[in-house]
Amino acid sequence: MEEISEIKEYAKEHSVPIMMDEGIEFICNYIVEHNVETVLELGTAIGYSAMRFARLRDDIFVSTIEIDIERYQQAVRNIHDNNLMDRITVYLGNALSYTFKEKFDLIFIDAAKSQYINYFEKFKNNLTENGAIISDNLFFHGMVENIGLTHNYSTIKLIRKLRRYIDFLKSNQEFETTFYTLGDGISVSKRRHPNLQINNNKGGVIKI
Ligand SMILES: C[S@@+](CC[C@H](N)C(=O)[O-])C[C@H]1O[C@@H](n2cnc3c(N)ncnc32)[C@H](O)[C@@H]1O
Repeated sequence: MEEISEIKEYAKEHSVPIMMDEGIEFICNYIVEHNVETVLELGTAIGYSAMRFARLRDDIFVSTIEIDIERYQQAVRNIHDNNLMDRITVYLGNALSYTFKEKFDLIFIDAAKSQYINYFEKFKNNLTENGAIISDNLFFHGMVENIGLTHNYSTIKLIRKLRRYIDFLKSNQEFETTFYTLGDGISVSKRRHPNLQINNNKGGVIKI
């Protein structure tokens, strides 16, 4: 599939979760504004977000990992159809068992929500000095704020884990995190640095 609209349609038809429009726009703006050149994405799905990132500029390189073989294969096909094989590398496997030697300007966490703390701890050392870790789906369709919206036991367990991740970010001594009420809830975490100010002036910033 060459057109982004076709990929979105495929995702809808096959129930493949991909980023919401607001969320993807936010990250694309972040990449442009901060001159991000290298991205590590955890959770490729069918390559939608990786391609959106790589298409922003010709000097952007994306490494992305997917655990599901069918999604991985579809991502490889899509990336090939869009001639982005030189700048997007897709890995097949469990992000938690994978070790990357390189450092990245941006690490985007979009894989299994129950593992967010583990991803953060595992990959934080793969960040460049002023790099950021961005996480998606922090609100989980409003359920993180209002757990009463579901009675499903596994969803409740997942929501508790996301709440634990939010607490982990809020109390983290090493990283400072800004939360955004965009898409399904996004966080941007940057290493604390005496001379580094996190920009809190963006619309939609909230305390949760
Ligand atoms: C929300 S989707 C990713 C969407 C994609 N970033 C986009 O917006 O186009 C999450 C993906 O993470 C994958 N995943 C879950 N756990 C994983 C793991 N431990 N390692 C790698 N991929 C994982 C799932 O199979 C799923 O395809």
